[in-house]
Amino acid sequence: MAELIARPDSARQRIIVALDVADEEQLVGLVNKLLGQVGFVKIGKELFTALGPKAVELVINSGLKVFLDLKYHDIPNTVAGAVQAAARLGVDMLTVHASGGSSMLRAATAAAQESQKKPAIIAVTVLTSLSDPDLVDLGIKGSPEEVVQRLAGLALESGVDGLVNSPREVARLRSRFGKKPLLITPGVRPAGSAADDQTRIATPQRAVADGADYLVIGRPITKAADPAEAVARIVAEMESS
Ligand code: C5P
Repeated sequence: MAELIARPDSARQRIIVALDVADEEQLVGLVNKLLGQVGFVKIGKELFTALGPKAVELVINSGLKVFLDLKYHDIPNTVAGAVQAAARLGVDMLTVHASGGSSMLRAATAAAQESQKKPAIIAVTVLTSLSDPDLVDLGIKGSPEEVVQRLAGLALESGVDGLVNSPREVARLRSRFGKKPLLITPGVRPAGSAADDQTRIATPQRAVADGADYLVIGRPITKAADPAEAVARIVAEMESS
């Protein structure tokens, strides 16, 4: 399959800023501060539910690229339609749940291929909020780590372009699946910054050394007094490796 999205070619381009805000004023404020600092932002359920496609249009019109993190999980036909609609909005990457199964994942990748602007399809394996007892309650066999590996294999065999994974998993996924899949890692915290509610954290330097292509970073940038300066510090940390 042709490469849908270029690999980041600089430390700055590796950063995806999570825009977890729910109103237009905050969104515009952050976009203005991030322009020229990073290439990508993530629009998730909070912002998309609050502002809808307008949030995506506003970001794309500013010149930033969008990682649309709505984690589609539905019957194949519905997911294919959602992927086509997201492609028409002009997003560069979007997420689906690997647990939607092979038919759903193939429908998503086929819909992306058929679109004029082909977004990369990124699969979420196991939500990091789920623990061993949660998986038992759900009737899912194996530890979270085992289920991540199983679902990652299923998703890549079904044609997805990449995976969202915790910093804890990235080295193993990279060594198992090689260079091809895009690996996108949240839970990244610059050295010395607040962990917030993240538990399995890694520094940007460590995540990249382990094989991550993109790092999703929210509050350390969006809540900083000077987001551009926060980005510059993270870039310097990555480049010091
Ligand atoms: O502010 P912070 O850097 O923690 O934001 C990280 C972003 O990545 C949030 O949008 C969060 O929902 C998302 N995310 C995560 N952990 C996962 C998957 C997604 O923190 N396992």
